[in-house]
Amino acid sequence: RKLSIIGMPMDLGQMRRGVDMGPSAIRYAGIYEKLKMLFDKIHDMGDIQIGRPETKVDAESNLRNLELVAEKSELLAREVDKIIETGAFPLVLGGDHSIAIGTLAGVSKHYKNLGVIWYDAHGDLNTAETSPSGNIHGMPLAVSLGLGHELLTGIGGFSPKVKPENIVLIGIRALDQGEKDLIRKLGIKVYTMHEVDRLGMTRVMEETISHLKERTDGVHLSLDLDGLDPVDAPGVGTPVTGGISYRESHLAMEMLAESGIVTSAEFVEVNPILDEKNKTAMAAVALMSSLLGDKLL
Ligand code: ARG
Ligand code: MN
Ligand code: MN
Ligand code: MN
Repeated sequence: RKLSIIGMPMDLGQMRRGVDMGPSAIRYAGIYEKLKMLFDKIHDMGDIQIGRPETKVDAESNLRNLELVAEKSELLAREVDKIIETGAFPLVLGGDHSIAIGTLAGVSKHYKNLGVIWYDAHGDLNTAETSPSGNIHGMPLAVSLGLGHELLTGIGGFSPKVKPENIVLIGIRALDQGEKDLIRKLGIKVYTMHEVDRLGMTRVMEETISHLKERTDGVHLSLDLDGLDPVDAPGVGTPVTGGISYRESHLAMEMLAESGIVTSAEFVEVNPILDEKNKTAMAAVALMSSLLGDKLL
């Protein structure tokens, strides 16, 4: 079993600087030491080069850094594609959540029916028309469904990357009106915090796993650290109170590990500048190791 890690230090999808340090913070939190007993081989491919570009708002669409995000996402898509071709499990370190556009472009071409678990406080289902902010990190799931600016949906040369019935959202507690409308229209499966509280994480994950197992040939986990409660993951740019606990998150990851359905993963929105003692990156590393099979006994 092989693992390939790739960092995507991109903070262009939103306005709070510092999330570009996410990959460093996660490495500093001991990712290699934590994961090395779980794999025969770990290859850290380093980071995609983002540089220090100036913020530019696309005049026509009002999207912040549209061209840059598109250009850099294309690079990530290519690297993720290559990782899968080597037979390794791709683990992508963000960066803000706009990086999922590139990750999913790279992953999706290897599956007929890719499943996606979107673990997040937010839906990230905005388009330029519905976005209140113009921030692309609020749009990656819509883009992957083929909705949004064609510079983004066209990454990797095909669209859509994922079908609505193959998506499960977990931990949701903040949606814009356009996102609510889209969820209803497409019938996307969503476990909001209401369902997490009501059913418990065990049942949420049992249902998620059986739903995806039936219809997909691979599952990508896109884990936004703001899905966790800000008490457990304070170092994120858009915190929302009342989130999933550290313990529930470990349970979710452990159940995914047991199921064996996850074929790629990314951990995003870690911003060490907004953190105390790198707590969020440490939570990310702990959750990764549960996801990838670490058990106490
Ligand atoms: N819905 C809001 C927006 O479109 C917030 C998105 C937050 N997304 C995230 N990946 N943290 O701007
Ligand atoms: Mn390929
Ligand atoms: Mn979020
Ligand atoms: Mn997100």
